[in-house]
Amino acid sequence: MADRGVEVSRDMIGQSQNLVSSAATLIAAAVVIAALAPILLPLLALTAVPQAVASIAGERITYLATVRTFHDRRMLNMLRWHLTHKDQADQIRTDTLAPYLLEKYRASGVRVDRTNDQAAWQRARINLMGAAVSGLASALMWAGVMLLLGIGHISAAAAGTLVFTLRSASRGLYGIVGYGADLMRTGRYMDDWESFIREAAGQRLDRGNIVPGRPQHVALHRVTYRYPEADHDTLREVDFEVRRGEIVAVVGENGSGKTTLMKLLSGLNLPTSGVVAWDGVSTRDLDPHALWKRCAVVPQEFARWPMTARENIHLGQPQPEVDDAVRRAAAASGADTVISVLRSGLDTLLAREWWGGQALSSGQWQRIAGARAIHRNAGLLVMDEPTSDLDARAEHRIFSGLRQLARDRAIVLVTHNLANTIVADRIVVMESGRVTAEGTFGELTSHPGLFRDLWLLQQDRASVQEGSA
Ligand SMILES: Nc1ncnc2c1ncn2[C@@H]1O[C@H](COP(=O)(O)OP(=O)(O)O)[C@@H](O)[C@H]1O
Ligand SMILES: [Mg+2]
Repeated sequence: MADRGVEVSRDMIGQSQNLVSSAATLIAAAVVIAALAPILLPLLALTAVPQAVASIAGERITYLATVRTFHDRRMLNMLRWHLTHKDQADQIRTDTLAPYLLEKYRASGVRVDRTNDQAAWQRARINLMGAAVSGLASALMWAGVMLLLGIGHISAAAAGTLVFTLRSASRGLYGIVGYGADLMRTGRYMDDWESFIREAAGQRLDRGNIVPGRPQHVALHRVTYRYPEADHDTLREVDFEVRRGEIVAVVGENGSGKTTLMKLLSGLNLPTSGVVAWDGVSTRDLDPHALWKRCAVVPQEFARWPMTARENIHLGQPQPEVDDAVRRAAAASGADTVISVLRSGLDTLLAREWWGGQALSSGQWQRIAGARAIHRNAGLLVMDEPTSDLDARAEHRIFSGLRQLARDRAIVLVTHNLANTIVADRIVVMESGRVTAEGTFGELTSHPGLFRDLWLLQQDRASVQEGSA
């Protein structure tokens, strides 16, 4: 709703100007009428009041209808996007989903139409009543003029002046009523906007202003984390650390809290209790934007920006040697082979919706996301399943490059392919929000526990596949 406030704020100035000019017309006319026939003034007011009441009531009806249809209009917009966007097109076909989506669309459309129809009828009734009463008052007023002329209270010349002045007074009055109602409606949207701004200010990041350097050591101390809307802790008393020069792998089953741990390390979320510290300073006390400058994250669900391949890697923050740095990062993640087959190389728009744009596969996108994080050259590199969609060669390339990257970085990576954890200095095993084991690949595979179980499962599957091949 609040976005309407931004749209209509421009209108407010014009409406105010019109209101003032109508008021000036009315006042000038009222002075003349007061001099010639003051008795007509109350009748003049009576012609405008019912219209004013009807307009204000009408605007309120429109506003309420807008509020009431908000969710459905939003749903219509979202469904329109999903129904027409190519990413979903194949799924809509294979899932034979179109009839269901169209029915949802139709239902929302019907509700919006019904509410708008009702509002239109209500407005029409109220306007009709207002106009009828005003018309009656108007007739009385003109009868009054005739009467005054008839009984000789005013001269014919004065009556002529009155007719002219009364008409301009009515114009002024209707102007005030019309523009006043417009202004009230605009004001309602502005109120929504203001309360939105107030609420948004409350959501502002309330953190310290210490500016961190390139971190040497990032750690969690007895960290518990609960999502605001959740009813249980996602992380429970987790201790964790990573140093510059080190690669730490985090493994664990779906839902064990790995992604949540990544969000805490990178200062996206603050712990519910305990401390996440960058070189001994709590992320609570660090300037969040300065922290994120020192941090490179490959999230599990990374964004596919509708920009060029170059922009998708440097993200508007190019290194001084622009394309060289972009190409180096691309080479480290395997994105170089993606770029080399693009029609216009780094200049290719990675969005098929645009003319000249090109679509990438999930794996190709993942290489771009990897290049993005490497290009940031930040002190902490966090990768959440960065190779889940990659082919074996690309995956190997990323993992064999990690040691080189780790020379001046602390690296934390989440992976499900346990063979990848061989490159890690340390492996942290998570189960239901707790760290339940920690050690090198050799240590964890030689002791009973979740890691060895998962490892044997993966081996078993590998041997089954070998056997069946
Ligand atoms: N935004 C959220 N709000 C509430 N609960 C969440 C949210 N994100 C994740 N969770 C819950 O936290 C648990 C751990 O999630 P996550 O850290 O994503 O696990 P993993 O990455 O190990 O699969 C899950 O049970 C999930 O339902
Ligand atoms: Mg995850």
